[in-house]
Amino acid sequence: MSEQGLFISFEGIDGSGKSTQVKRLAENLRANGHDVVLTREPGGSQGAEEIRALVLQGDPDRWSAETEILLFTAARRDHLERLIRPALAQGKIVICDRFADSTRMYQGLSRGDLRSTVDSLHAMMIGVEPDLTILIDMDPAEGLKRARGRQGDEERFEDFGENLQAAMRAGFLALAEEFSERFCVIDGAKDMDSVAADIRSVVAGALKSQP
Ligand code: TYD
Repeated sequence: MSEQGLFISFEGIDGSGKSTQVKRLAENLRANGHDVVLTREPGGSQGAEEIRALVLQGDPDRWSAETEILLFTAARRDHLERLIRPALAQGKIVICDRFADSTRMYQGLSRGDLRSTVDSLHAMMIGVEPDLTILIDMDPAEGLKRARGRQGDEERFEDFGENLQAAMRAGFLALAEEFSERFCVIDGAKDMDSVAADIRSVVAGALKSQP
């Protein structure tokens, strides 16, 4: 989507190690002189962070599935307008921990089949995809073990259990085939340094093939 910069998203099930890897990639790129904006969804702008609290904290049944899709999309729209687009226009590399593929999976799969609702709203309100999406693929049992090991009050989706995590994993891999031109699947079972190295080489390739 970017006019000048490079827009990279990271996806994967809870506990896939994304958050560590996005930070490592950002540090590596900055050390090599790149101007990097590291951000996350839901959130990344003031308004979107406020929506994040609405969707990830409190009673999990607070919102209907459809309302939840609207809230995630509203957060994304604000993030795009205020942070992502301006940064790309300035030629920066934007690394985003989750983007629309997470909504396709979490809201599109977890409470019935709402994928077409997610897609319609995305087409109307967002309309862009990352240049590169790195999917950290991970065994759900291992992912859940890691996710449960963390502290925090944002447990909304991590409580869904192993069956849903398995469906998410399969769903993410199917998305990677559907959008094969921008997806790259990384084996998250390797040790952290190897995963980081695999990611660096994919991103180096993407930077080289930029116009
Ligand atoms: P986060 O604390 O960022 O977890 P992780 O490190 O696993 O990414 O939590 C984000 C949670 O929000 C995660 O459980 C996935 C969920 N989510 C959605 O359900 N829909 C979305 O569109 C996005 C971006 C995230």
